[in-house]
Amino acid sequence: MKAYRELSENELLALKDQLHKEYEEAKAKGLQLDMSRGKPSPAQLDMEKDFLGMVISDADVTTETGVDCRNYGLLDGIPEARTLLADMLEVSADKVIVFGNSSLNVMYDTIARSMLLGVLGNTPWCKLDKVKFLCPVPGYDRHFAITEQFGIEMINIPMKEDGPDMDLVEKYVNEDSAVKGIWCVPKYSNPQGYTYSDETVKRFAALKPAAEDFRIFWDNAYAVHDLYEDRSDKLLEILGECEKAGNPDMVYEFCSTSKVTFPGAGIAAIVTSPANVEQIKAAMTIQTIGYDKLNQLRHTKYFKNIDGMKAHMKRHAAIMRPKFEAVLKVLESELAGLGIGSWTNPNGGYFISFDAMEGCAKAIVEKCKEAGVILTGAGATYPYKKDPKDSNIRLAPTFPSPEELSVATDLFVLCVKLVSVEKLLHN
Ligand SMILES: Cc1ncc(COP(=O)(O)O)c(C=O)c1O
Repeated sequence: MKAYRELSENELLALKDQLHKEYEEAKAKGLQLDMSRGKPSPAQLDMEKDFLGMVISDADVTTETGVDCRNYGLLDGIPEARTLLADMLEVSADKVIVFGNSSLNVMYDTIARSMLLGVLGNTPWCKLDKVKFLCPVPGYDRHFAITEQFGIEMINIPMKEDGPDMDLVEKYVNEDSAVKGIWCVPKYSNPQGYTYSDETVKRFAALKPAAEDFRIFWDNAYAVHDLYEDRSDKLLEILGECEKAGNPDMVYEFCSTSKVTFPGAGIAAIVTSPANVEQIKAAMTIQTIGYDKLNQLRHTKYFKNIDGMKAHMKRHAAIMRPKFEAVLKVLESELAGLGIGSWTNPNGGYFISFDAMEGCAKAIVEKCKEAGVILTGAGATYPYKKDPKDSNIRLAPTFPSPEELSVATDLFVLCVKLVSVEKLLHN
């Protein structure tokens, strides 16, 4: 098949008729499939069979240091949970505070604290005329929703395969004191699955922010989420790089076990410098007497150590790989060479990112929905839900079965073709 742009008008019209017929047939099947959110599948959740029973008797409730996890105490988490998450992110345990079940919650609180109380003695952001955040795009919709809710102005920064456009990041951060933060998903980014290169991490660490209270919001949600044993990405540890560059306080790193154990019942953490840890703990003592230590204990008893967690993640990958492959196979066989879309082939994480021809994403998502396949809303991967090119679509292959994914992706590529032909005919 030739690239669509090389087809004559008559060829395009004939193709449109044929695709339309196929689409009506597909619609008649009454599909009900959901590729919209990055959730583990039931098979992944079922893997954790013994997990829930790790803390079932009075004999199971004390930490290594003898603290009773049923009682108050240990505001920053039990020592073994701090160590486990520190090992996951390759930092020392004194930089880790363990929270409840959601890292997004910790990110929200971190923004809220900066707004209301300020960062290490600086003016609270809510008292400033303007606060700006850099947003690598496409990115994670829930990050953008937080900064939008607090009225923070969001600035798009294009993502490249090795991370955000660092020339632009340096320009904004180093020249504009209203720029207080940047959202980053540095490993297996949501949605492209890109990992920041060593050079990108080093350029981040070497920033010379105009604002003393500028912080990098380093959401390392997919730190141990490799899909392939022989092609996994490696991310340079940023806190160490920042220390070396003389910027020890510049990063708030976040993580959780939402996609290691259970999204509704994992453990989350912030990882940051001693000065930041101190400020966060001072605010936390007002907010809570402590988080659920029994769940922290359940995690550490289950994994024992980081090797246990890594072995466990290999079993997750074995379930997820065929799903990614099912989607990629259809994309490759149906769309390669047509010039109407490009997509990522990540080594880990939870998503595949698809870029349609400009002005087509909304119509593709709508057509899929009409025929029973739900995708993440077009535009969701951009601040204010505004994709300037209306071209990016996030595919989330983890929840449905490989068979369902093949069917859903067949419909997706059909919609991509149909919408692209219509677009070319109307240009
Ligand atoms: C980049 C990223 N960060 C955070 C989260 C949510 O994490 P949590 O469940 O710990 O709140 C997700 C979930 O999809 C995500 O993709």
